[in-house]
Amino acid sequence: MRPELNIWEGSAGLLNLLAARGLNLAPEMDSAAQGAELLAPFVGPKPPRLLDVGCGGGHFYHSLVKRGLNVDYYGLDSSPKVVAVARNSFKTLGLDPGRIILGTAEDLYGLKFDLGVVINFLTFRPDFREPLDRLSDLGISALVVRDNFGPKTEITWATDGYLDEGYNHLHGYWNRWSQDEAREFLRSRGFTVRAEVDRRTKGAVELVVGKPYYWSWLVAHRPPNLGA
Ligand SMILES: C[S@@+](CC[C@H](N)C(=O)[O-])C[C@H]1O[C@@H](n2cnc3c(N)ncnc32)[C@H](O)[C@@H]1O
Repeated sequence: MRPELNIWEGSAGLLNLLAARGLNLAPEMDSAAQGAELLAPFVGPKPPRLLDVGCGGGHFYHSLVKRGLNVDYYGLDSSPKVVAVARNSFKTLGLDPGRIILGTAEDLYGLKFDLGVVINFLTFRPDFREPLDRLSDLGISALVVRDNFGPKTEITWATDGYLDEGYNHLHGYWNRWSQDEAREFLRSRGFTVRAEVDRRTKGAVELVVGKPYYWSWLVAHRPPNLGA
């Protein structure tokens, strides 16, 4: 995507926050904390390869370390600026910046992973199916998803409104997905799926740049190597 059209590159404040999170200098996000806890039962003695889709600053890595979860972490993000920030944080901390992959979720292909996390991401995509399908094709056996889920799918295409000057005319998706549809979709890929209440919001609405969000979780698992 052209930088002029990318809402994720239109806020210096957000990029600074992602840098602080990547350097482990900002408070842990509640969603990263709960995501790591939900993932923990799927982390065995041999470090699994994990892909964090739409990883932002790569801060989920710190939530894993904080809980003693020994995981071979990789983050994926489609914004070159966000990836540069995350790689710089990793380098500063003596971690391999190659663990942050530049790419789009819809183009995932030819990689192998054991676990996936998709936190605060699908809502911003035109549909949840394509990213989840591509991720499933990588052979993951467990997946933790936090998103704006509800009883039915509602597509919203609107301006952000909180970006830097010159970006606020840009529109983006702020979608809410039918949780049943998302569950069914994952079941069709061989996963057993359960829903979890979001600890931060407990089912109550939360405003994200003025848009109503109802966060909850799906936790999915299937036998290893299915879908690879
Ligand atoms: C809300 S942000 C960060 C989410 C992060 N997981 C968190 O919980 O803080 C969403 C991120 O997804 C990235 N992104 C947007 N579309 C993407 C796509 N199609 N593939 C991969 N990353 C994408 C953006 O660049 C942005 O960094």
